[in-house]
Amino acid sequence: MAFYAHIVGWGKYVPERVVTNHDLAEIMDTSDEWIKSRTGISERRFAGEDESTATMSIEAAKLALDRARVAPSAVDMIIVATITPDYSMPSTAALVQDALGATHAAAFDLNAACAGFIYGMSMATSMIRAGAAKIVLVIGAETLSRILDVQDRTTYPLFGDGAGAVVLKADQTPGGVLSTVLGADGSGAEHLIVPAGGSKQPASQETIDQRLHFMRMNGREVYRFATRVMGKAAKQACERAGIDVDEISLFVPHQANIRIIQSASKQLKIDEDKVFTNLDKYGNTSAASIPIAFCEAIQEGKVNTRDRIVMVGFGAGLTWGATVVEWGVPMPYRRRQWWYRVWRWFVYRWARIRSTGARLSRKLENRFDRDKQPVIGPEEKEKEKPKSKPKELDTGQTPSTNGSKPEPAETPTPLPAETEEKVLEKEQHTNGN
Ligand code: ACO
Repeated sequence: MAFYAHIVGWGKYVPERVVTNHDLAEIMDTSDEWIKSRTGISERRFAGEDESTATMSIEAAKLALDRARVAPSAVDMIIVATITPDYSMPSTAALVQDALGATHAAAFDLNAACAGFIYGMSMATSMIRAGAAKIVLVIGAETLSRILDVQDRTTYPLFGDGAGAVVLKADQTPGGVLSTVLGADGSGAEHLIVPAGGSKQPASQETIDQRLHFMRMNGREVYRFATRVMGKAAKQACERAGIDVDEISLFVPHQANIRIIQSASKQLKIDEDKVFTNLDKYGNTSAASIPIAFCEAIQEGKVNTRDRIVMVGFGAGLTWGATVVEWGVPMPYRRRQWWYRVWRWFVYRWARIRSTGARLSRKLENRFDRDKQPVIGPEEKEKEKPKSKPKELDTGQTPSTNGSKPEPAETPTPLPAETEEKVLEKEQHTNGN
């Protein structure tokens, strides 16, 4: 039985706080004119203090599940593509799983930078096609504002925060994700990097003083790489899907720079009206950029049933990815009725109660287990004490007691010959020789 991976739900979340180019011009040496003409960006969203990659992912995921008419408990797997997880561990996906009450879902994060969402789509599609999962939630989410250096005008104006999610579902109807293409070239790793905070250079006062925990980018190199790879990856994805580029109804590229998008569209010979852009409003939101743009394209009525949509991403790694999707959801999409929204409210309330209950029961279990452990009385404690002093490492020196240099050990006095023989005899006896 062949399964196809269909997108059946979609949702996006962007923070409320809008930061315009004019706002940036007040805090750094830049201008609206420079940013707009070089990138196409007018404004971006920055997360509020109480927002993070997980909280934004959860909001986007709720909307996607709602539209998919899928209960969180039916989800088999949650993939969060991000370079700005809430923690190094646990994964942001696990936090999302808990908040949604997706009790049957496996969860993991995926780091492929701005190509992360396409990588996630590819993983999900493979799982579905292999019959290993039926419903997979793929999220692209970033809080890039937390790794941007306000003293670096070459990166700070380019990025923003947000999240986008899709629900992929197994179905026997042909269509859905028709193809995916993934690639990487680690020889360009240094061109887009957060140098410190990982195992190579752990966070320290020095790395913070040198601002090494912020993103660094060689813009020109990344630009050259992007213009080379975008069109090529999109063409390959079309070939694998068995369609011509002119059969594409909508092109949803990674929203990094309008000039890069124009260059890729030119290579592909796609009409401008088939290319979706929203980077003027959000800037580059890395792994979130494609799903956010895709959601807005649907919202604006640019996606119709049986449309072939191409999505292409590129980013740090260096990585790239492209996918061709045949849209199967009847459009226009009808909004859920009020009672469904009320039911959904209860589902997520219940997830919160369940999570609190699980934490509480873990605490109680620990307490109970501790109580069950046998109490060791003074006699047992005495018995458990080691009989002899553990042997100390023979360094040929006696340990110093005052913290100064250790003193050389005194030459051991040899045992009288008679005693030595007795000791040897005893040892042989105990060894059974
Ligand atoms: N405001 C004013 N001037 C600036 C600013 C700024 N914000 N930033 C740079 N400049 C100056 C530079 O200092 C330079 O001045 P100089 O000539 O005196 O040295 C001048 O502007 C030109 O700089 P360039 O780097 O040549 O500008 P360019 O036209 O290449 O545009 C940009 C820079 C926008 C970064 C471009 O290279 C680009 O978009 N690169 C791709 C970036 C990208 O897509 N990154 C996303 C990857 S996704 C991911 O994985 C996170």
